[in-house]
Amino acid sequence: MRKPKVGRMFLATCVGSFFILILYFQNISRSASEQISGWNSFSVKSGRSPLQTLQENDQLEQSAVQATLQGRRELLEETCRTHTRKRRVLGPEDLRHLIVDDKHKLLYCYVPKVACTNWKRVLMVLTGDGRYREPLAIPANEAHVAGNLRSLSEYSTAEINKRLRTYLKFVFVREPVERLVSAYRNKFTRSYNTAFHKRYGTKIIRRHRADPQAEALEKGNDVSFEEFVYYLVDPQTQREEPFNEHWERVHSLCHPCLIHYDVVGKYETLAQDSRYILKLAGAEGEVKFPATSKSTRTTGDMAAKFFDNISPFYQKKLFNLYRMDFLLFNYSVPAYLKLR
Ligand SMILES: *[C@@H]1O[C@H](CO)[C@@H](O)[C@H](O)[C@H]1NC(C)=O
Repeated sequence: MRKPKVGRMFLATCVGSFFILILYFQNISRSASEQISGWNSFSVKSGRSPLQTLQENDQLEQSAVQATLQGRRELLEETCRTHTRKRRVLGPEDLRHLIVDDKHKLLYCYVPKVACTNWKRVLMVLTGDGRYREPLAIPANEAHVAGNLRSLSEYSTAEINKRLRTYLKFVFVREPVERLVSAYRNKFTRSYNTAFHKRYGTKIIRRHRADPQAEALEKGNDVSFEEFVYYLVDPQTQREEPFNEHWERVHSLCHPCLIHYDVVGKYETLAQDSRYILKLAGAEGEVKFPATSKSTRTTGDMAAKFFDNISPFYQKKLFNLYRMDFLLFNYSVPAYLKLR
């Protein structure tokens, strides 16, 4: 049980700024919703929100899946407590990655390279009023069209707070280095991704390749993983603009120390965690999470090969960039990384 932080609430009331208000309501939200759930366990079973169902389930005898998810939540909370010095305050900009399903009371923070296309497809089915039935029948590019799904940042402050307080909030994460290698392979080794080659590839080659050919400078289509790593660890990169979402850290995309996710799903247990969320949402009958059978999927063994020619110095720098994602989500350092 979290205790409401009286000091912060008082401060929020005094200052009363828009941004602080969001955090203020979120803190109340936790304790308020915990009270509501205790009350509801005596009420009729129908009409419960997924968040209430989760909280009730946690009080009853737990399944293995529930116990795992609770362990992840606790570890995340503990890591946030010990590793974040000063609590920053949430603003609407921080909520851009949160997708809203008002019908099922769900908030999903999407992380690229962690089955986000399939989760967006599933949410299009759930929010589409019968327009879509089968997730895989929705073209991938359509799933990413802004406007097909609603982002929490589009709502008013009061509406944002209400949803943060009462909806089931979930995110899916993945082993950080695998996710990064997956992003590299997808964006820099596929000839069709010309937009990424132009936007990022040309810059990476200009800055991080000695004696580049004119064609490479022009097309940006043959960035090596090594050059990509130099680009990521170069302090200038993040001084200019935030990382692209495909390689931005989950910590920065979804703010897991400010938004208290109810379920932290993992790519490594995608099918099981997705099924559990759809069950909490009472949506098992409406949609099935698509089974993934991609043989080109980036695995740990595959990721290891990309580090053969990266020096330990740069491996360590890269690890430090993604360190918070390792800690927050309990991933151990891959054995192939040389950190000393
Ligand atoms: C963290 O990971 C370790 C090993 O990978 C595992 O044994 C442990 O149960 C995990 N802890 C939580 C809370 O998930």
